[in-house]
Amino acid sequence: MSTEKATCFEPRQQRIQRAAARFGHSRRDAESPEAPLGAAHRMETRNAPGNATNKLKEVGLGGEIVFARELQELLGIVERKLGLCTSSDAGSENGVERTPEAQLPLVYVPPSAIWRQLDHYVQCVISGESAGSRDLLEQFLEDLLRYSVRTKHAFFLHRLYGGSDPVGQIADLICSVLNNSADTFSAAPYLVLLERRVIEALSSCIGWKTPLQGDGIFCPGGSYANLIALTTARHVFQMNARRPQTKRTQRHHCNERRMGIFTSVQGHYSVRRNAAMLGFCDAPGEDCSDVVLVPCDEQGRMDPEALRRLIRCFRNTRPLSSVFVNVTAGTTVLSAFDPLPEIWTVLAEAFPLNSVDSASAELEQRLEADTMIRERLPQPTFWVHVDGALGGSFLFSERFRPVALAGLEKYANSFVLNAHKLLNAPLQCSILLVRERGLLQAAHAARAPYLFHDDLDTDAQYDIGDMTLTCSRRSDALKFWLMWMWRGSAGFGARVEAAARNARAIAEAMAKRPCFLLVHWPLDRSYPATNVCFYYLPSDMRESIRNLADIKAETAAQLLGSISVRLCRALQVSGKALLNYCTLEGTDLPIFLRLALHGLHVYEEQEIQDLLNRIEDCGDHAIRPGTPASISGNVSGGVSPVGDDGAHNAVL
Ligand SMILES: Cc1ncc(COP(=O)(O)O)c(C=O)c1O
Repeated sequence: MSTEKATCFEPRQQRIQRAAARFGHSRRDAESPEAPLGAAHRMETRNAPGNATNKLKEVGLGGEIVFARELQELLGIVERKLGLCTSSDAGSENGVERTPEAQLPLVYVPPSAIWRQLDHYVQCVISGESAGSRDLLEQFLEDLLRYSVRTKHAFFLHRLYGGSDPVGQIADLICSVLNNSADTFSAAPYLVLLERRVIEALSSCIGWKTPLQGDGIFCPGGSYANLIALTTARHVFQMNARRPQTKRTQRHHCNERRMGIFTSVQGHYSVRRNAAMLGFCDAPGEDCSDVVLVPCDEQGRMDPEALRRLIRCFRNTRPLSSVFVNVTAGTTVLSAFDPLPEIWTVLAEAFPLNSVDSASAELEQRLEADTMIRERLPQPTFWVHVDGALGGSFLFSERFRPVALAGLEKYANSFVLNAHKLLNAPLQCSILLVRERGLLQAAHAARAPYLFHDDLDTDAQYDIGDMTLTCSRRSDALKFWLMWMWRGSAGFGARVEAAARNARAIAEAMAKRPCFLLVHWPLDRSYPATNVCFYYLPSDMRESIRNLADIKAETAAQLLGSISVRLCRALQVSGKALLNYCTLEGTDLPIFLRLALHGLHVYEEQEIQDLLNRIEDCGDHAIRPGTPASISGNVSGGVSPVGDDGAHNAVL
């Protein structure tokens, strides 16, 4: 075996030749546009005597070597086509195909046109024409890449994620090639231990006392992670209430005891949906409800005084119920941070005997004495879950962590961080961390004997599949780990700080233009925000509406809501920028626009001005009736789908 090492600085041609040589074919084979995929191999097998193996080989399922060649060929094709889905700064060399549309975040085509294209491909599959056809494959990939959203583009500002980190992309590819299911040590020895090790490392980043404290699992999304946090808390409450002498970490499944679930009105919708799915009553405001919505202050942070009142009321009516409190670190719309220490103080006062303060010397002694069997906690009690799906990544910022996640190590029982948002891991990559060890396993284990052999195999103690709800598991931990290893904590910190800086720079530039009215963005705020919410004001409203309090008249409110929807649509359809529009729960503000700054981009002043010009141009356009953009908007702010008659920036 050659000891030579390829490096990422090696010229591309050499790299390709080296790779091709390893797979026993020349660069020309690998890049020849005419050859159908795996064609040479299939020709050989077609001439061989027919048996089942050869039949498989004929359709391209020819074992290791053919797969390796196909991968190489496909990588070659995809590499050249990626220019169609990345923005202008990427892939301008090395023979990557480029088109003018690649400069836009989206080439908008109406759904009916995409459907028609798909019909064509489906017909090719059904007729058998597609199998092994390189032309068709290339054509399909081109369409897919051309008409998909380019999240890496500087003006993709639509969602709380952006373009993905190339290191994470590679990890994703490795996961697919390895195809190990990260559930048991026997199925994925390296990846299972890697996940455990990463969880332990993150737990110590939080400040938990590993290895006695700190547990966790990677989850397919923050909504799912929030669900697992809820089922874990429910398990603890049930254990405390019903079987004080049993181990808290012992498996059991029952669901008859209710608890209160508190979240702010601006908390993520998954908290309420999860509650409903678990059989809790989600009818806030009604006596029967298990879900209580807590009002927020002007900046979108849970109001601790309102929480105090609601908890008092809840305890009066349901003195035996425990409570799960969802504290949001980075709300979905305003990217606000609930005040964790104040919230915890309210809870500790309401449940004086029961506060689980992991920082207390007494608890530390207990943990050291026995991490698994805790003394019975007097019940009822409370569980603090920090939903940091958006803002949890400020964990890596020395500058912002003290303001954004103050008290996390002390007050959070569980914590979610979505690496696929601010850290730009490829979708999806969410991490749930739980302070007390063993609870995830206890709450979710089903001990399927065909899979988990812990009675017979000592390695099985490292299995993680029973800590969650899925059976087969993709290793999202690898994506996170490779990025963390390569970028370092400092790299992550720099990235989240850049997002906050981008948002601030854009908000400040907007504040200087009279056509924009910022929604709850105090320019003197000390904590980081990564969303910028605003209204576009038509020229005849700029005098009368100078702040949010001025939006009183119903017609003005309706008009602003309608403009937000139409402006957003006009930007989308023209492909100039992708924004989103929102409302703010708990307020009667009309629909406004949201810019979400979660991409990899660092904005120069010129780009900010370009973005604002694009919005302003479309804003003027959006308020003129009869323009294509207005086809999709109506005065009440509703939106109807654009059909083939709607404007679009490309013709298929
Ligand atoms: C605060 C918050 N929590 C949870 C989620 C859900 O995360 P996911 O989209 O990964 O399910 C989101 C998504 O935007 C969010 O903003």
